[in-house]
Amino acid sequence: MKVLVTAASRHGSTFEMAEAIGRTIGARGYTVAVLPIENVTGLDGYDAVVLGSGVYMSFWLKPARDFVEANAAVLRRKPVWLFSSGPLGPAKPGAEPVQIPEVIDAVQPRDHRVFDGRLDTSRLGFGEKAVVWAVKAPAGDFRDWQAVEAWAAGIADSLAQENGAAA
Ligand SMILES: Cc1cc2nc3c(=O)[nH]c(=O)nc-3n(C[C@H](O)[C@H](O)[C@H](O)COP(=O)(O)O)c2cc1C
Repeated sequence: MKVLVTAASRHGSTFEMAEAIGRTIGARGYTVAVLPIENVTGLDGYDAVVLGSGVYMSFWLKPARDFVEANAAVLRRKPVWLFSSGPLGPAKPGAEPVQIPEVIDAVQPRDHRVFDGRLDTSRLGFGEKAVVWAVKAPAGDFRDWQAVEAWAAGIADSLAQENGAAA
């Protein structure tokens, strides 16, 4: 079985999560391709897809939304897992970090998981710095690699259950 792990990432942290997910699934015996979403030219040959995006102003990045729109029919026919990388610092009660109902609706994923992200202010342009300052977002790397890897291992487990055995 071949699994595509892809992500839209403005400052690199979501793509590093895609790489970790790909390594975990690959270690379970699957053939894995980890690609920036801009480099995915088609879904032929992939048996399952893990698709993520960084979250900006509560939305997925445009390349991820465009990808889902362009490939919705194919994605709906494959097992798909979605992840978002966003929240920074302690969770704010009642705050919804990501709004992607149209993506969920289009893809009908097995799961959508929101992971804490990374904010490295040295990588931000002026406009982004202003937003971050206005909302007082805390800088730092809040990614929980154990949680990411455990989620990826769960994906490999469900693929194995569905298909009898890996690879
Ligand atoms: C301008 C700006 C807006 C953001 N808006 C949100 C948001 O609405 N919700 C959220 O959970 N995280 C938000 N974040 C945090 C990012 O999603 C987080 O830093 C993410 O890990 C970045 O992924 P990337 O490095 O792959 O681009 C924002 C970050 C920036 C710089």
